[in-house]
Amino acid sequence: MSTARFAGKVVVVTGAGHGIGRACADRFAAEGAEDVVVVDIDEAGAEESARLIRERGGRAGAVVADVADESSVDSLRRELTERHGRLDVLHNNAGRLRSARVTELTSEEWDLTFAINVRSMFLVCRALIPLMLPTGGAIVNTASSSGLVGEAATPAYNASKAAIINFTRQLAADYSRDGIRANCVCPGWVPTGFNDPVLSEMTDAEVAAMVTTMVPMGRQARTDEIAAAVAFLASDDASYVAGHALVVDGGLTAVR
Ligand SMILES: NC(=O)c1ccc[n+]([C@@H]2O[C@H](COP(=O)([O-])OP(=O)(O)OC[C@H]3O[C@@H](n4cnc5c(N)ncnc54)[C@H](O)[C@@H]3O)[C@@H](O)[C@H]2O)c1
Repeated sequence: MSTARFAGKVVVVTGAGHGIGRACADRFAAEGAEDVVVVDIDEAGAEESARLIRERGGRAGAVVADVADESSVDSLRRELTERHGRLDVLHNNAGRLRSARVTELTSEEWDLTFAINVRSMFLVCRALIPLMLPTGGAIVNTASSSGLVGEAATPAYNASKAAIINFTRQLAADYSRDGIRANCVCPGWVPTGFNDPVLSEMTDAEVAAMVTTMVPMGRQARTDEIAAAVAFLASDDASYVAGHALVVDGGLTAVR
């Protein structure tokens, strides 16, 4: 494996203040990125992710932004324009998950889920693709195995993740000829705390038993295993990969 696939690259990772996004930001920095822009609505998380990268000798800075909010995304674009005037890699990763069947789901929750999971990707792509167009680049969106199958009690989340997969294909259709490759990653279970709202009724032992039963590999993913897939899609190693949904779920959706 090349250790400097992102040398000289400016990288933006949203939702990078915790979990998968933090691991991806860390991976981009470890592979030589010129600057990893750690974007999160949570200032403390974003600062901590950037600090951890710098502590390990990488280059990163935090930007606080709500990616579902147009003016906040505009501020991000202005800051990036002033800081670098270009962008090479965009990883749209921020997300939200809540549990409720359709008949118990409020329209506010549906709208908020789509705002954070899908509208955010439209807003960020619209704002930042112009910074990629002069030299080309790569976009990786975090979808989910939940966007490929039905699951109990997560209609807004699953519909939003399916939307991300096709939004990604649409990006590939529109921007591949401009030298911008768009792909998405579909993680399975990753123990970041993100799934707590749907697991709140279960004990740790029950969650472990469920994972063992559902996932052929018998375990959840580590965040660095998702980061490895994201880094592949964002790198020149994936130079002929576009519009793809890369499933990284330990076999979960292969058997359902
Ligand atoms: N954990 C899993 O099992 C799993 C599985 C499949 C897909 N995913 C997806 O991976 C992505 C990251 O999930 P995670 O597990 O790392 O969760 P996480 O909760 O650890 O991290 C999500 C981050 O997104 C940030 N965020 C939320 N709303 C935001 C907003 N409006 N603007 C900016 N930042 C915002 C949060 O502050 C947090 O730091 C999500 O898109 C999620 O849907 C997670």
